[in-house]
Amino acid sequence: MMHDTARFLPAILFVALASVADAKEPVDARVEPLLARMTRAEKIGQLQLINIDGKELEPYLAPVRTGGVGAVLNSPGPEESRQLQHIAKTESRLGIPLLFGRDVIHGYRTIFPIPLALAASWDPQVMESAARISAIEARSEGVNWTFAPMLDVTRDPRWGRVAESPGEDPHLGSVFARAMVRGFQGDRLDSPTSMAACVKHFAGYGASEGGRDYNTTWIPEQQLQEVYLPPYQAGIGAGAATVMTAFNNLNGIPCPTSTLLFRDLLREQWKFDGFVVSDWNSLSQLITEGLAADGPAAAKLSTRAGVNMEMVTEIYQDHLAALLDAGTIGTDVLDGLVREILSVKFRMGLFEPLPGKPYIYPPLLAAEHLEAAKKAAIASTVLLKNENTTLPLADSVKTIAVLGPLADSGADQIGTWSMDGLGADAVTPLAALRDFAKSKGLKVLHAPGLAISRTRSREGFAEALAAARAADVTLLFVGEEAILSGEAHSRANLDLPGAQPELIREITALGKPVVLIVMAGRPLVFGDLLDRTAAVLYAWHPGTMAGPALTDILLGAAEPTGRLPITFPKAVGQIPIYYAHRNTGRPFNSATYVAMDKIPVGAPQSSLGNESHYLDLGHDPAFPFGFGLGYTTFDLTALKIDDAEIKAGATTKVRATLQNTGARRGTAVIQLYIRDRVADITRPLKELKDWKRVALDPGKSQELSFELTPAQLSYPDATGARHLEPGMFDIFIGTSSATTESVPLTVTGSTISVNFTAPAALPSKRVPNNK
Ligand code: NOJ
Repeated sequence: MMHDTARFLPAILFVALASVADAKEPVDARVEPLLARMTRAEKIGQLQLINIDGKELEPYLAPVRTGGVGAVLNSPGPEESRQLQHIAKTESRLGIPLLFGRDVIHGYRTIFPIPLALAASWDPQVMESAARISAIEARSEGVNWTFAPMLDVTRDPRWGRVAESPGEDPHLGSVFARAMVRGFQGDRLDSPTSMAACVKHFAGYGASEGGRDYNTTWIPEQQLQEVYLPPYQAGIGAGAATVMTAFNNLNGIPCPTSTLLFRDLLREQWKFDGFVVSDWNSLSQLITEGLAADGPAAAKLSTRAGVNMEMVTEIYQDHLAALLDAGTIGTDVLDGLVREILSVKFRMGLFEPLPGKPYIYPPLLAAEHLEAAKKAAIASTVLLKNENTTLPLADSVKTIAVLGPLADSGADQIGTWSMDGLGADAVTPLAALRDFAKSKGLKVLHAPGLAISRTRSREGFAEALAAARAADVTLLFVGEEAILSGEAHSRANLDLPGAQPELIREITALGKPVVLIVMAGRPLVFGDLLDRTAAVLYAWHPGTMAGPALTDILLGAAEPTGRLPITFPKAVGQIPIYYAHRNTGRPFNSATYVAMDKIPVGAPQSSLGNESHYLDLGHDPAFPFGFGLGYTTFDLTALKIDDAEIKAGATTKVRATLQNTGARRGTAVIQLYIRDRVADITRPLKELKDWKRVALDPGKSQELSFELTPAQLSYPDATGARHLEPGMFDIFIGTSSATTESVPLTVTGSTISVNFTAPAALPSKRVPNNK
């Protein structure tokens, strides 16, 4: 593995040997003279992101030497990157440095929980620290550009990339966006520990039809503004240096050619001053998608949209020169694309000479990195059920059966997109529990029951059942292997794969307490299985330190403080199901609802109630957005608002008292939602606007106050203009999106426009895309 050798190399920066201008000069003053000296071929070279396939560098040396490459994806290792950078900076005519891009998505060598799990922490510090440590480790091996954060809001757990997403909510996604960009880029883009971030995939990829990856998306513009755009904009607002185009076709226009997205919105309205990279092969795919007839057309359409750099394919390399000769594309367009790339390279400090003293990086998997990964895994684990205070395990528990296909699978617990993480580095729950048991006189019995999550063979059942019989408590680790989520890994069924349901049934039938620990890249569907268990921990794919984190949670050294960043459906047929839905004219009514098996034979059609529900499933999800238990209980009382009536544009405060009514210290995640009862464009039943994480000792109380601002009370129309309409609002506070605790607020006056940084407006003046 490249890391084994790399770890013994001195950790030094890749920096310029020759600076083209004084570092103190403004970036523009450095870009323009350089641009003026570039040949057309060198300019087109800057637009190329090459993928290095394999270990062999030879085929790539000449293009780098002649200035034919702007950036490198998947460099085989730090030494190879150093060599390529040296050639680019000292042997190419103008010494323009390379970017080294890589998918550092939730950790480099120290793997943090998958992004969906980081979002479940509802803790921006946890998210930021994961990204910060990822950047430090990746930079130590020469990676200076990450293809993250992925900010595709999604409401479809079938989609494999839900694992990489921040979940279903625009506000939670925006907080995640800011934290991740801050973490990757640090305080300064030119710091030796910063990586350029890449906000992706712009835009709306998470709405892929049917949850099938790469699929078409149809998103009405108002919904785009309300749901999908805010996290991207938050990432841009936090200073992300680059943006990646999405694979999807958005309302008939494949994203990489959308002038509306990239020129009008990103550049003009959001003032994005970094550069845009296409996704893998996505320019050549324009032909497959039926937008471009051939390569030249694909090049024309994507340059017009403002896609600066092409990932992997060579549509620009092959066709731009001819298009420039023919005058189809102007030199000014080419210069514009190159200028934005050079500008990022200057801002990253890549042109600067080597520092006198090389920066010394902490080693990969440094103790503090592992500690942060453990903390993140604890923070993102969601306790879904805890009957009879089964967790944390009582002192009376002397023998534990550790069962299930995911109890000891390092490679699976690190999840999808762990390119540089190793299963061998991961501390599995079995290893950590055994370690803990040694010092505490606990007995651990282990039998996987199933070799992997998809196995249908019952061969291992007998041994697993014997272990469960002999134990006081069974810890059953089930879920999905890492390979079952992520890019192109969508599923039509969300149940536990293989014979896992049978294993759960047979173990729980023994009548002893069973704790289910689920490791998965998405919400799964459990049917009645959870009812059979005493406690359920949803751990997602928690990363390198899953074992120590879960051991602390199970044995009570730590409390699970995760809350769901996405609604858990009861069945696939409910999808899409999300908390921020609109009311129908005939909302679900539990009083009139008749479940399918209760419908009298021969009942007349009108006797059943004409409301919005499923005959076989009712209306509610399995678990609502924002839900998660802890190891103590809280009471939220005295909900009040400072002003029951405010004038449009004014601010007020909502208050409540939180008390820890349980026996141990714990953390509550108190969430603020609003509902605008009547509006020109109907509003969701609830919208998350804020939350607070509050830790309290037993018996202690704290008064919480949330400020309600005009921006929070406003909503975007289809052009993105935000309106605050007078009328009645409900302000909800609670421990999940299912809360019913609210106070009314009346807003008086007339409708006002509200300036809001996220999301900004889509232009009302449309630029025809394809002509
Ligand atoms: C394709 C994926 O869609 C994107 O997210 C990733 O960054 C690139 N491949 C590079 O690996």
